[in-house]
Amino acid sequence: MSTPEPNAIAYDRVRAVEWEDGRLKLMDQRLLPARLEYLYFDNLPDAARAIHDMVVRGAPAIGITAAYAVVLAARDRYRANPRDWRADIEPDLERLASARPTAVNLRWAVERMRALIKALPDGDPLPRLLAEAKHIHAEDIAANRRMGELGAALIGAGSGVLTHCNAGALATGGYGTALGVVRAGVAAKRIKEVFADETRPWLQGARLTAWELLQDGIPVTLLSDGAATWLMKQGRVQWVIVGADRIAANGDTANKIGTYMTAVAARHHGVKFMVAAPTSTIDMNTPDGNAIPIETRAETEVLTAGGTRTAAEGARAWNPVFDVTPAELIDAIVTEKGVVEQPTRAKMVALMGS
Ligand code: MRU
Repeated sequence: MSTPEPNAIAYDRVRAVEWEDGRLKLMDQRLLPARLEYLYFDNLPDAARAIHDMVVRGAPAIGITAAYAVVLAARDRYRANPRDWRADIEPDLERLASARPTAVNLRWAVERMRALIKALPDGDPLPRLLAEAKHIHAEDIAANRRMGELGAALIGAGSGVLTHCNAGALATGGYGTALGVVRAGVAAKRIKEVFADETRPWLQGARLTAWELLQDGIPVTLLSDGAATWLMKQGRVQWVIVGADRIAANGDTANKIGTYMTAVAARHHGVKFMVAAPTSTIDMNTPDGNAIPIETRAETEVLTAGGTRTAAEGARAWNPVFDVTPAELIDAIVTEKGVVEQPTRAKMVALMGS
C-alpha cells in the first residue's frame, strides 16, 4: 500500500473504539454532538448490548467492537474454566453476532475470532486474541486510508459531494469509508463542498457526520433528506458517496435507509454514485440484495425527536433502518483491494477471488 498524503492523515482525529487498560472503550454516539462521553466495558454481554443500543454503530466499528468483546469473553471463560473455555464461549459468540442483523462485519469479525479460538494451543488465550482484535482494528484503518486514495482519484477537481448517514471515523476503526474518501478528496483539493443528509430518524448525518467533519476542520452543509434530489437538480454535487452495511455477491448494497432513494435520484440527474467499503463488508454468501436481512427498529425512533413526541398521538410508524441499492445504480464500489466500476457478480468474484 502506498503512503497517504500527510494532509489526508491530518484530517483524522476521531476514534470511537479503543482498547484501554484491559477494557473496551466506546465513545457514546447516542449523546453526540451535545456531549462527548466514553463508556468502558469489561464483559461481552454489556458490549453486545452497547452494539444493539447503538452506543457504537456503523458496520466496521461494530465488527471491531465485537472482536474486542470476544477478548473480554475469553478472559472470563478461561478464568472460570481453563480446560473447557472454548465450549463455554460459544453461546457468547452467537449472542454477539446477533446483536444487529444487517451489518455483516459483525459476524465476519466473530467468525475470524472463532477460527483463531479453534486454532489456539492450550494455555492463556488472551495475548493471541487481543493481538488479533488489534490487528482487525489496524487493518480497518489501513483499508480506509487506501480507499480514501482510490475513491478520491475518481473525483474531478472542484467537485461537490453528498453523503448519507455516517460512514466516517465514528463508524469504523478510524478515518472512515465514505468520509475517508471525503477526507482524502478535500486534502487533494478535488472536493470543494461537502453536503450531508441529516438522515432521519436517528440523525447520523446531522449529529455524527457534521460533528466529525468539523472536528477535522472540514466544512459541511446539512440538508433534510428530502432536499437531496433538489440539490442534484441545481448541479451542486457530482458524486454521492456512501458506506455499506453489507454488499451482496452481485454488488447490491445495503446501507442506511434513504440510500436507495438517493441513488435513484442520482441516476436521474447524472450524478455519480460511489459505495466505499472494506472487503469485510462484502458477503459472497449472500447472492443478492433480496437475501440481506433488513433490521427494523422501534417505532419511537420515528414518532419522536430528541425524546419528545412529534407525531400525532395514535399514529403508528414503520422503521426499517436499512435499504438495498441495486448494483445497476452504483457507478463504483471502492474497496481496499481495488475499485469495481458498474458492479456485476463476475466483477465481484474477480475482486474477492472466489
Ligand atoms: O444504523 P447504523 O448507524 O449502524 O448504520 C450505519 C450505516 O448505515 C453506515 O452508512 C454503514 O454502516 C457504513 S459505515 C462505514
